[in-house]
Amino acid sequence: MSEIVDLVIFGGTGDLSTRKLLPALYQLQRHNLANRLNRIIATGRGEMETEAFRREARANLEKYLPHENWDESVWEAFRERLEYVKVDADKADDYQQLAQLLTAGNTSGRLYYLATLPSLYGEICQQLQDAGVVNDDSRVVLEKPLGHDLQSCRAINQQVGRVFDEEATFRIDHYLGKETVQNLLALRFGNQLFHPMWNNTFISSVQITVAEEIGVAGRGSYYADTGALRDMVQNHLLQVLSLVAMEPPATLKATDIRDEKMKVLRCLEPITADNVKECTVRGRYTAGAVAGKAVKGFLEEDAFHDADNTETFVALKASINNWRWAGVPFYLRTGKRLSRRYSEIVIEYRQQSFSLFANDPQELTNKLVIHLQPEESISLHTVNKKPGLTNKLRLQPVELHLTDESQNRQDSYDAYERLLLDAIHGDQTLFMRRDEVETAWRWIDSIIEAWDENGTAIKSYNAGTMGPNAATALIAVDGRSWHE
Ligand code: BG6
Repeated sequence: MSEIVDLVIFGGTGDLSTRKLLPALYQLQRHNLANRLNRIIATGRGEMETEAFRREARANLEKYLPHENWDESVWEAFRERLEYVKVDADKADDYQQLAQLLTAGNTSGRLYYLATLPSLYGEICQQLQDAGVVNDDSRVVLEKPLGHDLQSCRAINQQVGRVFDEEATFRIDHYLGKETVQNLLALRFGNQLFHPMWNNTFISSVQITVAEEIGVAGRGSYYADTGALRDMVQNHLLQVLSLVAMEPPATLKATDIRDEKMKVLRCLEPITADNVKECTVRGRYTAGAVAGKAVKGFLEEDAFHDADNTETFVALKASINNWRWAGVPFYLRTGKRLSRRYSEIVIEYRQQSFSLFANDPQELTNKLVIHLQPEESISLHTVNKKPGLTNKLRLQPVELHLTDESQNRQDSYDAYERLLLDAIHGDQTLFMRRDEVETAWRWIDSIIEAWDENGTAIKSYNAGTMGPNAATALIAVDGRSWHE
């Protein structure tokens, strides 16, 4: 692959490009990490001069970047990279315009970022090939959602695969770009302290929560047809789960890591009509208040009046059938309009088989809590003696913080910066391989089939709470509670 690439963003004036991609690229420039990037060519369906696009880009960057990151000299260098060309996905002539622009440049390396409707991915790839702008130095980045089920995902992968090899295909899951998610590898395999105890002998359960305050207004028909299971669990939560559960990879190379993640996905026990009731909860928010502000219920939003089979919350109990994890439930939950925005992984250790102390054994459970957001941190919940002159030795909880807060703030970056940088450099480690995405869909499809077969009801929850009561019950039957 050529050292230097031109980046072409399809959907270059869309929401993702405006809010995430262009700010991330600007930040790479600001950190002097854009030296392997040549031009950034945004494409869209509207006619626009490059100068007008640059003006729009500047206004948006000023809006979406932290104020203190704005630097006029960085912008001047960044704006020079920006170009705009109109491309209608199915208009061959438009691709000729793009081809002219590309061939006029001084690099053969190309990175095509597809941030349009996924139903257009196949067409765009074919048109690029027909226009003669796909060469051995070309790669493609695919945004989620990759399909709506296994069948549609396969169709997209097949169409894209006719033009780009798997080694040239980068499937985004932005959760893999989050610092703490990557830190899971360091934590698990760099610390003798954790690695030997990372199994069902010592761990009793794992919780993964991705809670959001935002609703789905503005997501139009996408969310009505999707719901929380497809939107969040199929990708983000299962990717996190596979990094928590995978075996040590042979090396840190992309293939080795992805092989191990893939094995976890293959070991997920299917949730079917027989166990769907005990293992899943679907929820949908009704009106309530989030962060002190009154919000409408999901079905009251104009775009969602008829979406009465769409869940905005899901809680699951997943099992991984392998030697390491047999008997350890993985509880997953995610939802919109919950009481606060936070994502975390909680590793709960087993209680000691015998206790010398007067405390309730529940109070003595060790936990490793990995916060992904809003702040990134890792803390180990342990116990030590409660100070004082009481005659009974009692213990109290103590949290050991394993992250260096000052470093955190200094080095913090958005997930898209990491992922764009890796795609520019051709490193696939943090991208999903075709078999991973398809295996995840197979597991999700079986849950959806089971919901349909059983007529699984969607339970209501008030916006601003942590989901329906049934989610508390799902975990309470196992004698546990969600970590709050
Ligand atoms: C996206 C989902 O993939 O992730 C959104 O489509 C969700 O519904 C978003 O809000 C959450 O990302 P983050 O990084 O804000 O947790």
